Amino acid sequence: MSKVLIATEKPFSAEAVAEVKGVFQEAGFEVEVLAKYPDHSDLVNAVSDADALIIRSDKVDREVIEAGKNLKIVVRAGAGYDNVDLEAASEKSVVVMNTPGQNSNAVAELALGMMVFMNRNGFTPVAGSELRGKKIGIHAYGAVGRIVGLIAKGFGMKVYAYDPFVDPVVIKNDGITCEETVESLYSKCQYISLHIPVTAETRSSVAYDLLASMPEGATLVNTARKEVIDEDGLKKVFAERKDFRYLSDIAPNCREELEANFKSQVLFTPKKMGAQTAEANLNSGVAAARQIVNFIEKGDTTFKVN
Ligand code: 3PG
Repeated sequence: MSKVLIATEKPFSAEAVAEVKGVFQEAGFEVEVLAKYPDHSDLVNAVSDADALIIRSDKVDREVIEAGKNLKIVVRAGAGYDNVDLEAASEKSVVVMNTPGQNSNAVAELALGMMVFMNRNGFTPVAGSELRGKKIGIHAYGAVGRIVGLIAKGFGMKVYAYDPFVDPVVIKNDGITCEETVESLYSKCQYISLHIPVTAETRSSVAYDLLASMPEGATLVNTARKEVIDEDGLKKVFAERKDFRYLSDIAPNCREELEANFKSQVLFTPKKMGAQTAEANLNSGVAAARQIVNFIEKGDTTFKVN
């Protein structure tokens, strides 16, 4: 009997866990849940007899891969898999998958929600500002970026996007202006919503020059990863511009410094919660479970990333 470990430091909703367990029970798999665990060593210990592993942002490093003596597959219930050591997994012939698109709506709603919250001064009676008629630039037009575009259009915003990996026709067909360069996106748009993954190429790529080029009222919204921001460049922009704002679901390393000096210009969630909705938990958890069953029973490697 195959054994699956569901290891989520940030727990799925009870409903999602029940549905995920149901998928495995139907397939005759054994399931263990390790939620809200206090230490990485708990994951290392728990994975020892698992054939399959479901995770969220949980760190699956070489130690975890090597501890999983029976491990055949790791599914990241979510989009970004920068928390998984793909090299170590491939060396041990462990398949790694993600569940693209399953939590995108939740993240996109948070991006716009943070903008509204900030524009209305944290829902206080101080006169705020509206999104209607403002320009928003979507940096990377994947599953989340596309929904951000849809919602932003609903707000009456002028929507632009830059993504060298997406056919411009796709962007134009969604009624969005396609920018040919990242520089033109940032210099044109007061709002930038970030949706790039963290890779060797994108790490620290959102740097001073791009941020400084943004128009008056510049607002950077990050529901992607903190690592894509060059924090020295970010701090320099804050030091120079009173109008610059940074809203992020993944607080930067310099969080305390920014909050101490530029309190009214920043908004950071206490813990990454873009994908933390009942719907996203259910969609990504069940997708991960089905992918595991299909892989173990039929060898289906759809969504393999290594
Ligand atoms: C993702 O990459 O899917 C998001 O960052 C969500 O991460 P989480 O599962 O830790 O909430």
